Amino acid sequence: MKGYFFFKESIKNMKTSATITRSSKFVCKKMIQYVDFEHADLIIELGAGDGVITEHILEAMGPNTKLMAFEILDSFCEKLHEIDDDRLIVINDTAENLGKYLEQYGFSQIHDVVSAIPFVALPKDLSKRILKKVKQYIRPGGSYSQLHYSTLAKNIYEEVFGKVETEFVPLNIPPAFLHFCKG
Ligand SMILES: C[S@@+](CC[C@H](N)C(=O)[O-])C[C@H]1O[C@@H](n2cnc3c(N)ncnc32)[C@H](O)[C@@H]1O
Repeated sequence: MKGYFFFKESIKNMKTSATITRSSKFVCKKMIQYVDFEHADLIIELGAGDGVITEHILEAMGPNTKLMAFEILDSFCEKLHEIDDDRLIVINDTAENLGKYLEQYGFSQIHDVVSAIPFVALPKDLSKRILKKVKQYIRPGGSYSQLHYSTLAKNIYEEVFGKVETEFVPLNIPPAFLHFCKG
């Protein structure tokens, strides 16, 4: 039934969700392949939805790592709050306010970032502001992994991070393009 809940909520909010299906397990696994779970103190997830990638991250994380997950939809945040794990910090706010929450929770740097925010669908200046915030706080060499359903926004990541590697994952609805960058 998780799929139906995601479909129902996404269809009401197509402008900010940009899909009607949660990520497949193939996408989830690929999205976390460059996260340095061994050394990470703080991982940030942007656009967590109802938590499908969140659960994969938590499963791979050590006991002393924190995961701060940003999601703007209240209904998805309610689902995220149902995940019973004190390593997870759910932030019901736009990723643009990242800096405020890092300060609030006592972090000055992010180890790695996993993002499914549909930057293709957002105003370009908002997308850039969010990505520049990420670039400001991510550690040098930290991994930034981004989910998309096209390569249309690739140039934004090139502008902010420089080199971008792209991987196509056909086993997802719709098929996904994953962009990988370094801080
Ligand atoms: C493509 S869905 C991905 C959901 C889930 N991570 C998955 O992979 O199935 C994108 C999510 O980003 C959220 N989102 C969009 N703009 C956002 C923003 N500015 N800050 C935080 N989350 C945002 C949407 O509400 C939506 O849940």
